[in-house]
Amino acid sequence: MSPRPERKPSSDERADALEESLMKQLAKPAPSARRGVGLLFGGVTPSGVPIEIKPLPAMPAKPTLVDFFRLRFMPHTVTHMLQSASDALKKGEPEDTVLACLLHDIAINLLKVDHGYWAAQMLEPYVPENISWAIRHHQALRFFADPQAGYEYPQRYVQIFGEGYQPEPYIKAAYEQARKHKWYGEARMITVHDLYAFDPDTKVSLDPFVDIIGRRFKQPKEGLGFDGSPVAHMWRSLIYPDNPL
Ligand SMILES: [Fe+2]
Ligand SMILES: [Fe+2]
Repeated sequence: MSPRPERKPSSDERADALEESLMKQLAKPAPSARRGVGLLFGGVTPSGVPIEIKPLPAMPAKPTLVDFFRLRFMPHTVTHMLQSASDALKKGEPEDTVLACLLHDIAINLLKVDHGYWAAQMLEPYVPENISWAIRHHQALRFFADPQAGYEYPQRYVQIFGEGYQPEPYIKAAYEQARKHKWYGEARMITVHDLYAFDPDTKVSLDPFVDIIGRRFKQPKEGLGFDGSPVAHMWRSLIYPDNPL
């Protein structure tokens, strides 16, 4: 039996639906910052939890990556990245995968939108190319399940992006290209260890990763933000988020 054609809503019904959706929008308080703003600058977490803005400690004159973890990256992102990296370490992943997991969401502190691309660019001068490539592409891959690799579409994204969310065409294109790339597996493993259901009792610390950072991250001697690299200003924006211009 062929399915019955769906009845088209009348113009009255359409007008009612429009009015209802406008009323719903009006009932919500206007957000104090756009959704993509970096967590260091306020706004809400990707899940919508408001960020508490506190005075920030001064940074050392020559800041290291570890200084950024301790003094600038917001607790929400630090816990998330430490849990991802701890999971990768526990499961015996190669050191580059552990480091990629440890750094994959650093840009969320600066800007949430396109955070994989921003993070890859911030890191490019300082990490092996496969690591920044993997971090760039985790952004597209996380929208596409790969059950063979152990990755299902996260339930959390249904909450964040809504039911039936379709990523932008540029994200789909990036995913298609990444699938054919020799480092696909490295980017895919970031999504596999990108944990959303945290055990609140698990204690995580940066300590187990300080040696890996020392081996694989090229810390500039002038300090991040002051080495004249093409991305130094991104690190400085995290050092001085209260500067008005
Ligand atoms: Fe991410
Ligand atoms: Fe993540």
